[in-house]
Amino acid sequence: MSKITAVIDIGSNSARMAIFEKTSRYGFHLIYEVKSKVRISEGCYENGGYLQEIPMRRAIMALRDFRLIAKKYAARKLLCVATSAIRDAPNKMEFLRMARKQSGIDIKVIDGAKEAWYGGIACANLSHNKNGITIDIGGGSTECAIIKDGRVYDLISLKLGTIRLKELFFDHHKGLEAAKEFIKNELKKLPKHFVHDNVFGIGGTIRAIAKINSKQTKYPIKTIHGYEILVKECKNFIQMIYKTKEERLEEIGVPVDRRDNIRSGALIFWLLLEHFGAKKITASGVGVREGVFLADMLRGQNFRFPNGIYPSLIALKDRCKAHQKYLKNISKQSLLLFDVLKPAHNLDYTCRFYLNVVSQLCDIGVFLNFYGKNDHGAYFLLHGLDYGFSHTDRAIVCLLVEYINKRIPKDETIVSISDIMPPIQTLQWLSYVISLAYALAVTNESKIRYVYFDKTLQIHTDTPLYLSKELTQNLTSPTKINLEFVN
Ligand code: LMR
Ligand code: MG
Repeated sequence: MSKITAVIDIGSNSARMAIFEKTSRYGFHLIYEVKSKVRISEGCYENGGYLQEIPMRRAIMALRDFRLIAKKYAARKLLCVATSAIRDAPNKMEFLRMARKQSGIDIKVIDGAKEAWYGGIACANLSHNKNGITIDIGGGSTECAIIKDGRVYDLISLKLGTIRLKELFFDHHKGLEAAKEFIKNELKKLPKHFVHDNVFGIGGTIRAIAKINSKQTKYPIKTIHGYEILVKECKNFIQMIYKTKEERLEEIGVPVDRRDNIRSGALIFWLLLEHFGAKKITASGVGVREGVFLADMLRGQNFRFPNGIYPSLIALKDRCKAHQKYLKNISKQSLLLFDVLKPAHNLDYTCRFYLNVVSQLCDIGVFLNFYGKNDHGAYFLLHGLDYGFSHTDRAIVCLLVEYINKRIPKDETIVSISDIMPPIQTLQWLSYVISLAYALAVTNESKIRYVYFDKTLQIHTDTPLYLSKELTQNLTSPTKINLEFVN
C-alpha cells in the first residue's frame, strides 16, 4: 500500500477529502482534510432525482482542486466514492463522464450497504467502544451498521437525509408532523434487531450537535472523536434544534454553515435514537473516508486490526522516534513494580494497561524540545491518541506523562472531569509507579528484583544505581513507602 493515500467522499451535502499517511504496517494518521459545501443534491429531490447543472459544476470544480491538493501532498493513490444523490440520479452517467474528463478523477458510486459498511468498519476499528449501531446521517441517505465486538454484523441504508427532508418538507413549511410521518414510515424498513444502548454518531450533522454540546457543558477535552453524551442529557437540545426557526438557530449555538440543514438532521437523529432505544451517543470523527482507507489497508486482515494494536499509538511512536530499548525497560519495571506493590495500592489489574501505554510514549515530548518534554508529551498524547482510545484513557495517559516525577494535584482541570476520571488516589499511585520505573531504568543497565513487605520496597540490584537512588528521593507515594536499595 502506498505511503500517502487521498480519499474523497462526495456526499449529498458536502464533498470531503482526507489524506492519510501510513507510518508503518499498522500506523497511520490524517495529514490533511478539506471539505467543500458542494451540495450535489441541491434541487434534485423536487426534480425526479436528476442532478442539476449548477451543483454538478460546483462538484467538478471542487474535485479539480482536491486532485491538485492530493498531488501537492504526493498522494500515490486517490480513491473517490460517491453516495446517495449520485447513486440515485437517473443522469449519473453524464455526471461521472464529465467529472472524469474535467477533473481526471474516477468516481466509484457505492450502494447504501457498502456506504454503511465503510462507516461500520471505521467505527469498529477506530472507536474505543466495540459495540453499538452506527448512524451516518448524510444529505440524501442515512446508513446504519450493527457492530458487535468490533465486527460489523448487519447493514442498512435508509432514504432519509438532511437535504432530502429539507427540500421535501422544511423548505415548504409543510410542518414537522408531515416530516415525522415520512421518517417513521422509512424506519419501518429497520429489522427488529436494530436496537442498542450505544450509537456511534457519524457525519456532519451529529458532529455539529456534539460540538455544540461539548461547548455548552464546558467539556475540557477539545476533540469530538470518542466524545460520549448521554441521550437523556441531550434530548431536549436535539428536540430544540428541530423546533427552532432557522433564523433563531444562531441563538442556540448552531454555526452558520449548518443552519440550513441541521433541523432536518436533528429530527432524523432524534427519531432514530428513539427507535433504537439508545442511551448513549459515542461521537465519531471517522466515517466513510476512514472506512475506504481501512478497507484498502486491512484487506488481508479481514478488515480488522489485530487485537492490542492501536494505530494512533503506533503512528505517534513512528513519528516521534522514541528510544525503544529504554522505554521497553520502563515498561517492564513499571509492570513489575505494579504487581509487587499490589498490597499497597490494591488497584485493579486493568490499570496495567495505562502503565504499558504511558511507558511506551512517556518521552515523546522530546520530539519538540527536551525542556518541558512532559508538558509537550501530555499535549501530544491527549490529542494524538485519537483512534481506539476513550477520552478517559487519553486524559489518564496525558496526566501520567505530564506529572512524571511530580505529584498529580487534585485540582488539575482534567482530574476534575469527575464522571469520567478514576479517583485521584488511583491516578497518584499509577503516577508513582511510572515515575519510580522511570528513575530505576535511567541507566538501563541493571538487573533489578523487587521485594515488598512491611511498607518497605526492597530494590535488589547488581549495580549501585547511584543516580536512580537520587532520583527516587523526590518521589512521594500516595501512602508511605520506604525504599531500600540492596546491592
Ligand atoms: C453527506 O451527505 O453524506 C455529508 O455531506 C454529510 C454532511 O452533512 O455534511
Ligand atoms: Mg455521507
